[in-house]
Amino acid sequence: MTHILSVKNLLDIPPLTVDDIAAILDRAAFFKRSLIDKTVPQTLNGKVVLTLFTENSTRTRNSFEMAVLRLGGKLMNWDEKISSAQKGETFSDTLRYLNGYQPDAIVMRHHEYNAPHYVQSLVDCPVINAGDSYREHPSQSLLDAFTIIEHKQRIQGLTIGIIGDLAHSRVANSNVALFTKLGAHIHLIAPKNLQPQKMPSNVKIFDTLEEGLKTCDVVYVLRIQKERMDISAIPDDTAYYHAYGLTPERLAIAQHDAIVMHPGPMNRGVEISDDVADDPSQSLIFQQGANGVPVRMAILDLLVGAH
Ligand code: CP
Repeated sequence: MTHILSVKNLLDIPPLTVDDIAAILDRAAFFKRSLIDKTVPQTLNGKVVLTLFTENSTRTRNSFEMAVLRLGGKLMNWDEKISSAQKGETFSDTLRYLNGYQPDAIVMRHHEYNAPHYVQSLVDCPVINAGDSYREHPSQSLLDAFTIIEHKQRIQGLTIGIIGDLAHSRVANSNVALFTKLGAHIHLIAPKNLQPQKMPSNVKIFDTLEEGLKTCDVVYVLRIQKERMDISAIPDDTAYYHAYGLTPERLAIAQHDAIVMHPGPMNRGVEISDDVADDPSQSLIFQQGANGVPVRMAILDLLVGAH
């Protein structure tokens, strides 16, 4: 029997129960098998999902779109750049009109902090957050958890090192919330100016890879979010690579069977070397990206699907 989630929307990680998370990950495993067997149940048949992205995206948007199509649903898109927002229409009025068309779900990415909660307060259908500002990116961390469990069979008790621009990373926020809920130990590794302003209490913070990578089972690399930084605060790419770039030598500090992850897009030669990114013995980066489809199918299925 399909688990009924305790939430009606996916806006952030904290409201999810451990049972909700297990249900999403189990359903994702089911969809991964059914994609291979070509036996995907069409649980979004007759449903229309509205995508609403005010920030660029490759992985999240396209994998959500693929997930809808694989489940037999249809897509409509609101594109701010060619919409009547350009004629001065407010976001709130826009949403009231779009809600009147009765979409079955909204998948949204927005540059404003907490925008998914605002949208959810104005519409009648489930809202799925595809990333808001530097706050949360819950579907990313669910696919990250799914990928870790595929390779390590668990999250409980693992040490997960997250390296990079923690100050501006919605992925880091969602991952810390999800991985700690599932019993992982977290090492956050960043230069002082990229450490989070509000330190989560249940994590360890390190200034250097040499200290922070010790004992890590998972090495999770983040991009510097230049688009969210004051220009004067943007580190020099070469200097950053010398101090924090993940090279094979630095990866060797972690456990010998550590896996490497990155949410993408990667800036090669800045936060990660080609050697590490493309090493099939440790890097899961492209498998992680591919898992976006079954995990997002699971999210859509459990929130919107007909069972
Ligand atoms: N990981 C991620 O959110 O990538 P996109 O910005 O391409 O969606």
